[in-house]
Amino acid sequence: MYGDSRRTPSAIHTRGVAGSIPAAPTPRSTCGLGCAGTCGLRFKAVTARLETARLVIRTFELHDADSWIAMVTDPEVRRFLPPGPVPTMETFQSAIERRHAMEHERGHAMWAVDAKETGAFVGQCGLQPVERTGPEIELAYHFNKASWNKGYATEAAIAVLEHGLGPVGLDRVIAVVVPENIGSWRVMEKAGMRYEGLATYYGMTGLKKYVAERDQWKVPAAS
Ligand SMILES: CC(C)(COP(=O)(O)OP(=O)(O)OC[C@H]1O[C@@H](n2cnc3c(N)ncnc32)[C@H](O)[C@@H]1OP(=O)(O)O)[C@@H](O)C(=O)NCCC(=O)NCCS
Repeated sequence: MYGDSRRTPSAIHTRGVAGSIPAAPTPRSTCGLGCAGTCGLRFKAVTARLETARLVIRTFELHDADSWIAMVTDPEVRRFLPPGPVPTMETFQSAIERRHAMEHERGHAMWAVDAKETGAFVGQCGLQPVERTGPEIELAYHFNKASWNKGYATEAAIAVLEHGLGPVGLDRVIAVVVPENIGSWRVMEKAGMRYEGLATYYGMTGLKKYVAERDQWKVPAAS
């Protein structure tokens, strides 16, 4: 359905990969992401920036708060997600702190996604330890309703998998989804992940589990 240029990352840039971060940061250094030190992180930022034909995938920043909260509090976006407390500004701040720390330590995290043309925040997509503790690393994504059915999730997922299984050096990435969330497992299939079977994660049984392995996964050909 989409041409190659739309589905394949046109450029991938990663600034400050984990190995280049000073091992012993000074107490006065801050996260460097525009928070003036309020997020409490004491190291310089590791910031990722992946570009696809239509999207920019980047490290979360404090100014994403309102767009992120609007997305994750939308009942339609939450429909198939594990139940949890209603996200607030405090939730966002702790999420961003965790994500900055994860990006520093591992070279991957959940990233913000903007539409290139408008610069508007459209969602999030990234790689994180499943159930927060891992050890498996999962691909996860959520987009605001206005951005659905444009191929954005597939485009972002392919770019993130290519980055995770490439420069980040992961051997294997999984993704899990409730079977009723057809749009989401279609994204996993369209992103070239292989169906592995039903599994239990996040206290939810019967989840469809998909995998992408470095040795086997390839950027899918345009359909
Ligand atoms: C799931 C989600 C990420 C899909 O994002 P998206 O940008 O619309 O996805 P894409 O446009 O890349 O592709 C979706 C595919 O699924 C299909 N699809 C979407 N909803 C569908 C549905 N209800 N039934 C059948 N197919 C559906 C689309 O037609 C498309 O396939 P196609 O290109 O072959 O036509 C988005 O709906 C979302 O953010 N949902 C809420 C959060 C969520 O559930 N995240 C996943 C948790 S596992």
